[in-house]
Amino acid sequence: MSTDSNTKYVGKAPSRVEGPLKVTGQAKYSAEFSVPDLVYGYVVSSPVAKGKIRKIHADKILALPGVIQVFSHENVPTLAWFDRSYKDDVAPGGSPFRPLHDDEIKFSQQPVALVVAETFELARYAASVLEIEYEQEKHATDVEALREKGQEPGSGKTGYKPPVRRGNADKGLSKAEHRIKQEYIHGTQHHNPMEIFGATVHYHPDGKLTVYDKTQGVYNCQQYLKKVFGLSADKARVVNLFMGGGFGAGLRPQYELFLSVLAALELKRSIRLSLTRQQMFSLGHRPHTVQTVELGTGPGGELLGLKHKAVHETSRFEEYTENVVNWSGMLYQCPDVHLEYEVVPLDVFTPLDMRAPGAATGSIGLEVAMDEMAYEAGIDPLEFRRRNYADRDQNEDKPFSSKKLREVYDEGARRFGWDQRKMEPRSMREGNKLVGWGMAGGVWDASMQKAAAKASITADGKLTVSSAAGENGTGTYTVMTQIAAETLGLPMEAVTAKLGDTTLPEAPVQGGSWTAATVGSAVKSVCEALGEKLLKLAQKMDDSPLKGAKPEDVEFVNGLIRLRKEPRQSVVLRDVLQVSGEREIEADSSVMPNPLNMQKYSMHAHNAVFVEVQVDEDLGTIHVTRVVNVVAAGRIINQKTARSQVLGSVVWGISMALMEETVMDHRYGRYMNHNYAEYHVPVNADVRDIEVHFVEEEDPHVNPLGVKGIGEVGLLGVAAAITNAVYHATGKRVRSLPLTIDKLL
Ligand code: MOS
Repeated sequence: MSTDSNTKYVGKAPSRVEGPLKVTGQAKYSAEFSVPDLVYGYVVSSPVAKGKIRKIHADKILALPGVIQVFSHENVPTLAWFDRSYKDDVAPGGSPFRPLHDDEIKFSQQPVALVVAETFELARYAASVLEIEYEQEKHATDVEALREKGQEPGSGKTGYKPPVRRGNADKGLSKAEHRIKQEYIHGTQHHNPMEIFGATVHYHPDGKLTVYDKTQGVYNCQQYLKKVFGLSADKARVVNLFMGGGFGAGLRPQYELFLSVLAALELKRSIRLSLTRQQMFSLGHRPHTVQTVELGTGPGGELLGLKHKAVHETSRFEEYTENVVNWSGMLYQCPDVHLEYEVVPLDVFTPLDMRAPGAATGSIGLEVAMDEMAYEAGIDPLEFRRRNYADRDQNEDKPFSSKKLREVYDEGARRFGWDQRKMEPRSMREGNKLVGWGMAGGVWDASMQKAAAKASITADGKLTVSSAAGENGTGTYTVMTQIAAETLGLPMEAVTAKLGDTTLPEAPVQGGSWTAATVGSAVKSVCEALGEKLLKLAQKMDDSPLKGAKPEDVEFVNGLIRLRKEPRQSVVLRDVLQVSGEREIEADSSVMPNPLNMQKYSMHAHNAVFVEVQVDEDLGTIHVTRVVNVVAAGRIINQKTARSQVLGSVVWGISMALMEETVMDHRYGRYMNHNYAEYHVPVNADVRDIEVHFVEEEDPHVNPLGVKGIGEVGLLGVAAAITNAVYHATGKRVRSLPLTIDKLL
């Protein structure tokens, strides 16, 4: 299925199907569901980073009329229990944080109490005057100061890939004609989706719960409730229909889930709980990371040795790992590679996957270093990358299932006009603005997970497809609808996609850029299964021209089941449904990645980013005036939603390069700019000309759809390309992000 010229919906650019619901305010987010007789919760957060809770003076606020209860470790343990070995689907090694479990404070802003009242305002007021006595202990939160304490992760956690080492990097480097060694640092970042984390728990008269939670994984949350509260699946239904952004913050069950369900069970009442923007900085973060990169080249600009080390923080109770350095062993051809990866346990909350975790970070180190190396060797940065093109994944010593990075380079350079670039820094200007052009690239894993789906079609020809995946704004409802409509030859308007509910077939958390590949494949598979049932019914009809036809002999197109061979006789699908006498026909199916293909091939998406910046010489202000981001990510199901995702990635990259940083005051072990006023993200004025292009990439091995996923790959290289462009504009190499004006002076 290389070209999509013979498809009606797949590969085209339909608008998102839930768009009207969103723009008319009908789409309900987790803390918006109206449930009768609600009470309201407000979380109290610890002001200290480490210590003990000595006393909670709940009596005073419990005396306020309308305050219902104050939950804390003093009154919780009877109800909640934890399986010590419990891990959620995406947990790192160690032991998850247990809210209100004991008197111990492990990080600043740790939830220490939940105040429940008849109104939100009262709960908030009561929480603000709740007196808590703490016994403060000495904390350590500064990863840069403690980087020597880094240790290679080792507790067998999920997703941890030991760093790659091959050949002898020191030896390779010693043969080099040109060498560089530099350190790159970026600060902490928080996901900060617009929608605040929150939950509405509907406590039904029979004691069952419907939990509307902000999460990227309803099944993962249901499992959590089972392990923590002993709630069987029929006792707790978890729902998330829409998200105002997730970016990874909702991958793991967050503490609003624990606290709201705890209160509902204890009080036997429905409750709504919303965190504050400040509390959004207590849900996990992209960790502050220090990287060292060393490169060396031979006479032809070929890489002879590569060393990349990263150190970042983790919490004291979980060993969070994001593999920062591993992609550096595969993006370029290099025989002698030494990668090192360490974490430092500190008194902070466990970091959490944030859009392209690890790779987004590591690509800053590698891709700025590649630019520095290109200058050191006197080779154009793009040409330098071309000379070190990896035709094979050297990390895993496997061929790629497909790789169109060369085409990405060509297309990006052509669209940007890279050949007009002068190598010399400070050589381009426009009035009093220094103009700089920079580029960088990236690689990201093309993943697929196990997932199930269901399809049902009614006598009037309306099809419903469902799977409990998530929709965090990426376009899942839309691609499910497109794939279903395409597979069964129905108009998109005849298809309803359902997701985000544990009453639907099981699907994994929405993350890792795998949802389109995973749920898309499940939807395709279940529609094919339904198609086979429909064919059988069609064959039972009198004088059916389809008698004896096998599934592969027919196609579903324009509401017909039609023979592929001339003269292409057909029956009308609606007639089949009517004649069958069935009110509804259903099919179930599940898919999983092909283990043989996974063994045989390295599966990855690639991109390259070309950036123009303008730096005001007098003021030092930096504007990203032009970005071309070219992506090879297999088949693109929806050109519009895919482009939107990459546009979002570019905005994130601008943010990463120039603005975003959560600043901690280590005297208090506390994030100080925990609000939208001081945690800077781009606004419209910061977002100028962005061009997104997908190169065609046919991949018969990656999954039945040929999809690689575009949720994360678009971010790679953006921050590095901007940093490189700023160097080209100013001649000043900044190695610490965000690249704020003070660093340029
Ligand atoms: Mo993504 S960081 O896997 O939500």
